[in-house]
Amino acid sequence: MEEKKENRIFLRRATMEDAEDLLRWRNDETTRANSFTKDVIDLDSHKKWLSKKLSQSDCHLFVMMDGDEKVGNIRVDVEGDVGEISYMIAPKKRGRGYGKKIIALVEKEMPAEVKTLIGLTLKDNKVSGRCFLANGYTASDAEDALCYSKGIN
Ligand SMILES: CC(C)(COP(=O)(O)OP(=O)(O)OC[C@H]1O[C@@H](n2cnc3c(N)ncnc32)[C@H](O)[C@@H]1OP(=O)(O)O)[C@@H](O)C(=O)NCCC(=O)NCCS
Repeated sequence: MEEKKENRIFLRRATMEDAEDLLRWRNDETTRANSFTKDVIDLDSHKKWLSKKLSQSDCHLFVMMDGDEKVGNIRVDVEGDVGEISYMIAPKKRGRGYGKKIIALVEKEMPAEVKTLIGLTLKDNKVSGRCFLANGYTASDAEDALCYSKGIN
């Protein structure tokens, strides 16, 4: 029987084996332009950071798969009952609906104690804003950024 297409898109926990892909997507020019920190990171520093993040129970880091292909990643850093989302889609895979999908999928992975998810975007990052709005998040002003938030659980 043919597998349903939507079942092929899923999140799995990131591992150290994802380090190089995550770094490439992170250092991509458009990702940097749309991020609060503009610096390019080297592989050694990135591996140290990733290893630490993977060991933290308050950090949930996933890779989105489409079949056997990695198409993006999303991280939720939890403080109290609030989880802050950071995410990116692989440069060659942008503009195909994955950004909207990855946010929808991460909500289902959150433990019950996470009551609210937020995402901070630069004000001119309209594409990311559309991803949050499409998932029912509401926007509020946060100085030079927009804060998208949604109650879950
Ligand atoms: C922001 C990002 C995650 C969005 O993922 P994506 O897969 O490209 O987005 P989608 O394909 O789901 O598109 C979301 C919406 O933006 C629109 N869109 C996508 N790319 C666009 C583009 N280049 N120009 C204009 N609109 C665009 C889509 O049409 C869609 O609109 P809709 O709500 O009307 O359907 C991705 O572009 C990315 O990784 N950017 C760099 C890193 C980044 O900005 N991360 C977020 C930091 S807060």
